[in-house]
Amino acid sequence: MRKPIVAGNWKMYGSTAMVKELLTSLTENIDKHSKTEAVVFPPYVYLQQAADLLQGSTIHWGAQNVSEYLDGAYTGEISVKMLNDFNCEYVIVGHSERRTIFHETDQQIAEKFFTASRQGLNPILCVGETLNQRESEQTFEVVAAQLESVFAKQENSALLKNGVIAYEPVWAIGTGVTATPEQAQEVHAFIRKFVEKYDKTLAQNLRILYGGSVKSSNAQQLFRMPDIDGGLIGGASLHAKEFLEIISLCNSYC
Ligand code: PGA
Repeated sequence: MRKPIVAGNWKMYGSTAMVKELLTSLTENIDKHSKTEAVVFPPYVYLQQAADLLQGSTIHWGAQNVSEYLDGAYTGEISVKMLNDFNCEYVIVGHSERRTIFHETDQQIAEKFFTASRQGLNPILCVGETLNQRESEQTFEVVAAQLESVFAKQENSALLKNGVIAYEPVWAIGTGVTATPEQAQEVHAFIRKFVEKYDKTLAQNLRILYGGSVKSSNAQQLFRMPDIDGGLIGGASLHAKEFLEIISLCNSYC
């Protein structure tokens, strides 16, 4: 049985007041017996505030990015050890906004993945195709290449166990257009099959989240799919009621 996850990627949104209001509302209203793991990803500067507000609750927290280096003269970067200091359990690596806007490479993302995993964090590796790539029937090729850069590093196979994959078609992120449940399931099944080549047990236990315009109105259909183990939620995670509703749908249908 895979433990489902609903993760909220806040991106570059928030303020001290907003963090307090959102997290207070989440901790007060979350179903404490839910089998779904709820995780929030505030901007770095609010991690201490999030840690204080979430202490003792069932909600986990993490960071939206991390450096591939452990320390050094890297102005503006944040290391895995710093995230450990704030008791982060998860970190997102390779989000499409990092890949496209900040030009992160597959190689760099793989390094971030293993640096995080080595220090006991659970990396959520994001993969997904652009609209152009989908229309030119390159989806599987693109996703396979993104996975390959991490999974091909066999010497690190023990570190893969901490990982989670998020399939996020770029054309569905922040656009209001979501993949159909069938489109998402097709890629999720492909990802599981891909991982099976390396390790059958890992593939069976691997949590694969769908991300891209997930809302309470479309979550049920997506979560019903056999290879979808939860969601990585952007916009809708900034609203307590919506986020809680998505967690509850995940609990019923994942
Ligand atoms: P969205 O973002 O839910 O706003 O589409 C998802 C993501 O970028 O992780």
